Amino acid sequence: MAKLKIKFVCTECGTESPKWMGKCPGCGSWNTMTEEAETPVKAQVPRSGLLRGKEKAKSIIDIESEREARVTTGLAELNRVLGGGLVPGSLLLVGGDPGIGKSTLLLQTSHALTKQGLKVLYVSGEESVRQTKLRADRLGALSSGLFVLCETNLDLIDEAIGEVRPDFLVIDSIQTVYRPDVASAPGSVAQVRECTAQFMRIAKGNGIATVLVGHVTKEGAIAGPRLLEHMVDCVLYFEGERHHSYRLLRAVKNRFGSTNEIGIFDMTENGLREVANPSELFLSERPLGVSGSTVVASMEGTRPVLVELQALVAPTHFPSPRRMSSGLDHHRMSLVIAVLEKRMGMFFQNQDAYVNVAGGVRLDEPAADLAAAVSLASSFKDLPTRPYDVVFGEVGLTGEVRAVSRAEQRVKEAVKLGFKRVILPELSVKGWQPPAGIELIAVRTVAEALKAALE
Ligand code: TYD
Ligand code: MG
Repeated sequence: MAKLKIKFVCTECGTESPKWMGKCPGCGSWNTMTEEAETPVKAQVPRSGLLRGKEKAKSIIDIESEREARVTTGLAELNRVLGGGLVPGSLLLVGGDPGIGKSTLLLQTSHALTKQGLKVLYVSGEESVRQTKLRADRLGALSSGLFVLCETNLDLIDEAIGEVRPDFLVIDSIQTVYRPDVASAPGSVAQVRECTAQFMRIAKGNGIATVLVGHVTKEGAIAGPRLLEHMVDCVLYFEGERHHSYRLLRAVKNRFGSTNEIGIFDMTENGLREVANPSELFLSERPLGVSGSTVVASMEGTRPVLVELQALVAPTHFPSPRRMSSGLDHHRMSLVIAVLEKRMGMFFQNQDAYVNVAGGVRLDEPAADLAAAVSLASSFKDLPTRPYDVVFGEVGLTGEVRAVSRAEQRVKEAVKLGFKRVILPELSVKGWQPPAGIELIAVRTVAEALKAALE
């Protein structure tokens, strides 16, 4: 056997180098160059450009604009994140911590698809066929159109695909499959890259919607090269907190839709249940009539969601007080504290401040600023907020409250959940009729908002 040449590949960006380096010359990350055997890939199939030679450049006017057909998955929350449904021939990556529920989600999706008469091949490299059957039993996901294969050799998987001819293919997980003609171990950069490239050809060539399951490292990146994310059409992350039962599905990349939408699920005894009304779930544990708790109307994609934003301000003897935030951007928290100090005369320099968004939700829009200001001020002064208030608005550096988008939808969600008052930016009240049964308090400054919320 010919001696294998060794090279070093960056696990982040895939840059190659003949000798080891501490710092990747491609992306500058440290300690990411890993040793790999040079891969004697025989180019039986062209590595890219399936259509090369057959397609000519066309004027954009002549291109037929048929809407790409989408297959609705039967799980409304998944459809929402995908932007309407699965696109045939697309390649998806679903990442998440071990044990979060990726296999469960995909098995349920597979079952839902077979109910529409589609054929599904579920390839498991991590669990035996019996284990998968047990799980399917528990989920009530037994159907004749669902084929299960326990295999990690890509050549054999390819053969099975040819036999079953599925409409939907699940590879659980990409780190366990290998190509026998690539010399490195399963899960290595070269294997993951070559296998993904082959699944891409299989997906595009046969019009099979394919999902690759990927493990996530502690740092939150999908294990293996970042390259993987560039190769696939969609990257979805399945996340949640271990001690909570709900799970969020988010798109971080989507070639067929927006990446703003989130899907919300609840992990139960019998698998994942879709949460159609997330506000109810997120507010279910809210304490009433205490200081430091505010409900904010936030937009998660196109859907308004009400969540509780809590703050705790407590005296400290240390010279540099703590600022901790979970679910709210750290910079926005600092900005709100600075505005409260400078414009409202609240002295935070000998106070620790904590902000927490209940339910593991991340609020990344500025509309949460005003709620953070109200919660922080409420805890600072130890004045309770009113239980039936909803607050939203962006806070500017001079203490002004700035308009935010989709005020009407946010207010409607508050009405739906039985709230009595909404404190919102004055400029957001223009151009629409407030629904009956809710009092709108339009404010121009943080001072006005605090006055309305805490008195
Ligand atoms: P799993 O789908 O195996 O996670 P992953 O593929 O991401 O590693 O889910 C495992 C967890 O989900 C496990 O802790 C058990 C729990 N679970 C339920 O609570 N209910 C169920 O019906 C199923 C199938 C799993
Ligand atoms: Mg799994």
